[in-house]
Amino acid sequence: MKHETVLIIDFGGQYNQLIARRVREAKVYCEIVPYKKAMEKIKEVKPEGIIFTGGPSSVNDPGAPDIQAEIFDLGIPILGICYGAQLTAKTLGGSVAKPEKREYGKTEINYTGGKLFKDVDKSNICWMSHTDQIDKLPEGFTITAATHDCPVAAMENVDKKLYALQFHPEVEHTVQGYKIIRNFLFEVCALSGDFTSDSFIDDKVRLIRQQVGDKKTLCALSGGVDSSVAAVLVHKAIGDNLTCIFVDHGLLRKNEGDDVERIFRDEFSMNLIRVNAQERFLSKLAGVTDPERKRKIIGEEFIRVFEEESKKLGDVEFLVQGTIYPDVIESGTDEAAVIKSHHNVGGLPEDMKLSLVEPLRELFKDEVRNVGLELGIPEYLIFRHPFPGPGLGIRVLGEVTEEKCDILREADAIYREELEKAGLGRKIWQAFATLPDVKTVGVMGDERTYSYMVGLRAITSTDGMTGEFYPIPYEVLGTISTRIVNEVKGVNRVVYDVTGKPPATIEWE
Ligand code: XMP
Repeated sequence: MKHETVLIIDFGGQYNQLIARRVREAKVYCEIVPYKKAMEKIKEVKPEGIIFTGGPSSVNDPGAPDIQAEIFDLGIPILGICYGAQLTAKTLGGSVAKPEKREYGKTEINYTGGKLFKDVDKSNICWMSHTDQIDKLPEGFTITAATHDCPVAAMENVDKKLYALQFHPEVEHTVQGYKIIRNFLFEVCALSGDFTSDSFIDDKVRLIRQQVGDKKTLCALSGGVDSSVAAVLVHKAIGDNLTCIFVDHGLLRKNEGDDVERIFRDEFSMNLIRVNAQERFLSKLAGVTDPERKRKIIGEEFIRVFEEESKKLGDVEFLVQGTIYPDVIESGTDEAAVIKSHHNVGGLPEDMKLSLVEPLRELFKDEVRNVGLELGIPEYLIFRHPFPGPGLGIRVLGEVTEEKCDILREADAIYREELEKAGLGRKIWQAFATLPDVKTVGVMGDERTYSYMVGLRAITSTDGMTGEFYPIPYEVLGTISTRIVNEVKGVNRVVYDVTGKPPATIEWE
């Protein structure tokens, strides 16, 4: 079954992912396509609707991104946003000019009608960010919104189902902007919103069976959200032909290894091989203090262990990976690719010659979580904070030893337990304890102590690229500190990191 599809034609705007998120939130499947591939993709997927994004160029610049005029004659509804609106105007015979005043920020707007603004308050606030604007309408269009400085804040040609907005409905500052996008999807394109978790699961199970048949398939399961959901989905499709390898490098959080084993082997009855490789990793890490070196060692050892185990299984043809949509979009740009390579620890051997099964390639993180819940994976696993591939290897600062990992595991478990008790777990994007290679003097009872200091980190973020420290209330911090110092032997001091990213990174190494 083909899902209803909206194609988002990318002209380089900064909010493109946000547009896709809004469409998906309305349970409509969408994909972002570079403008140069627009026509090709439209012919391939036959979308029910098209959205043009904003972009940094001026449509009047030589060589600015453009679009073939025939796209407007296909009878498919089109919504142009910002640059996309200007491009619509210019391509259809209107014109675009630079006004005296650039419009930027929250702006009062008046909507004067049209399907797009059904049930939207006539006088409202929108988010403007443009230097050019439409100054002459193309034939057949009427104006449907205006601001003080922008007489054509929206236009439409109802007969041809063409709509254009100078402002950005996808950003939160546009009051009822989400409603405007929904009106485009449901009033103009007449979609039903058929992209739900259960329809996704049914479709994928069928497609995975088609792809894999009765061939043996392998999955490197880390216990993280993406690999867990991918593994359970593939297991639902092919059952015992899937084998999961879980490499326990001894750098996991408290109880994590046992939890993974219990959930996937016992509850889901999956073939799971747990490789207890703690000693191997620790002996390779002995005496190493440089963070990048530690990352490299852990990454390489991980690949070696995985290879050894998979060889034992014989003929394997497919490999499951938990790639998700933001990874796919990001890997399209050079800059993002550089950031990613730094985080590729835990990657798999490139020369294994296995075909990939990537069942989550089209999904955003929140959709992956919904699918995971629908598949019956426990909530605490689905809403886990991100955890880096090298694990405690980069949270025990300096040399990694078993003793230090044990201390950190205990402190970290208390920290996260108290955050959950205080109802903060889901408000924070990532929270963890670190163990600097620092001992400080303390006094407990009548005795002087000389023990480790623990650092606490709590960050709010959407993607880990930037973030702010989360202001945990002092009482909660006090409880955490008291419990850690009382309950974790070898710790006599707790400090709280109040640095954002930038200038700090989220991890301390
Ligand atoms: P930083 O410390 O770079 O972290 O601000 C951003 C996000 O990436 C995670 N991180 C890693 N993940 N391998 C991973 O798989 C790594 O080597 C690595 N280093 C950092 C970090 O936990 C945060 O979510």
